[in-house]
Amino acid sequence: MTEHWTPASWRGKPAKQIPTDYPDLAVLSRVEQTLRGMPPLVFAGEARRLKALLGEVSDGRAFLLQGGDCAESFKEFHADNIRDTFRLILQMAVVLTFAGGQPVVKVGRMAGQFGKPRSSAIETQAGVTLPSYRGDNVNGMEFTPEARTPDPQRLVQAYAQASSTLNLLRAFAGGGYADLYNVHRWTLGFVADSPQGARYRELSEKITEALTFMGAMGITPETHREIHQVEFFTSHEGLLLNVEEAMTRVDSTSGDWYDTSAHLLWIGERTRDPEGAHVEFFKGIKNPIGVKCGPTMEADELLRLADILNPKNEAGRLTLYGRFGFDKIEDRLPRLLRATKQAGRSVVWAIDPMHGNTLTANNGYKTRPFDRILSEVRSFVEICKAEGVHPGGVHLEMTGQNVTECTGGARRVSEGDLADRYHTHCDPRLNSEQALELAFLVAEKLKDERSQLAQRAVAGA
Ligand code: PEP
Ligand code: CO
Repeated sequence: MTEHWTPASWRGKPAKQIPTDYPDLAVLSRVEQTLRGMPPLVFAGEARRLKALLGEVSDGRAFLLQGGDCAESFKEFHADNIRDTFRLILQMAVVLTFAGGQPVVKVGRMAGQFGKPRSSAIETQAGVTLPSYRGDNVNGMEFTPEARTPDPQRLVQAYAQASSTLNLLRAFAGGGYADLYNVHRWTLGFVADSPQGARYRELSEKITEALTFMGAMGITPETHREIHQVEFFTSHEGLLLNVEEAMTRVDSTSGDWYDTSAHLLWIGERTRDPEGAHVEFFKGIKNPIGVKCGPTMEADELLRLADILNPKNEAGRLTLYGRFGFDKIEDRLPRLLRATKQAGRSVVWAIDPMHGNTLTANNGYKTRPFDRILSEVRSFVEICKAEGVHPGGVHLEMTGQNVTECTGGARRVSEGDLADRYHTHCDPRLNSEQALELAFLVAEKLKDERSQLAQRAVAGA
């Protein structure tokens, strides 16, 4: 089926959410040509490594932690912001590994997460209608005709930003910052004096004790590189297929096509039409890929997508992100879990507890109540357990910055507090405290799952 596939095959299919209202399409073509000549951001071998790790997740032996901005922006591009989100992911991974007892596969929504799908192509404010904001790689957020006009040069700037973000992430992951001996230092200043900070400190003390013991046994960062560094991967929604096409190259080792813009790419809720351009593009790239599954996804449609996107049923190739909403998950998820299980489909089931729980506060801010986010995560783990499916991961919009975008959490961010530090360029993100609290909750749930499995194994022995 993919024999005649090329990175441009999608152009023959109906394409949603890809802007075409550029003032001069010839300029856009020239920019695409420029991107075709740019170095790859990631290597095929790294994408294969992530796929192998996700295979471990689909077999129930590991857990996926994926998170970062809803939309990266040119304005918030700063080394400190990249570091803060990176270390928050490290902290959460430590919590999940140590308290939850599972190896954690770490994937950032970083280094290329710019393009946004929109529910409406236009936005009206005070009687003025303009094109919607579609992410900094397309147009600007300010509500002016100039800013909202798509500018192809933004794609070049986004490439440059992704490339230097990835460079810094690689340095953080491999250059000593992520050394487990630094576990105490990853705490973000404003989290330190919170209940989550105290819990994390307690846990990091235990880890340090364990490291001292291991050191005495001769197991050190020098003898075991995995103590000194972490494997970290990047991901974004593969929305602007013209850009993804330009970054797709043949891997000289395998002869296969890889999208070298990120290790993992996913198809969004609005572009998962089996007949559409996005599914056509994704079926030909060999990266591990994901699909968002919202409340309208039916079991037969999901199986059809799995057939198209993972015809050989390879472990680690396909991750499914449920994003139903706290009040819909119980109705929608079980039938999808049963469908993939009964069809013998090897997939990672993960939860995105963000996108089904968005609401507009009385003061006009788009927000997400933290208790609904926790509730959807809790339901996810419980439903997975009941269906005999591994709850494989979480996909979060979060930041290491001390923002006030989601209400609730230990500091009880109220609707009135939202205006204080509301910086997101698209959807509301968890701040570090909220993200850590969520990690502790998931860790506890995973621990319960493990002890139940162990009890069953003993009982069956
Ligand atoms: C997103 O992940 O930012 C997003 C738009 O999600 P969804 O496609 O699930 O709505
Ligand atoms: Co979002």
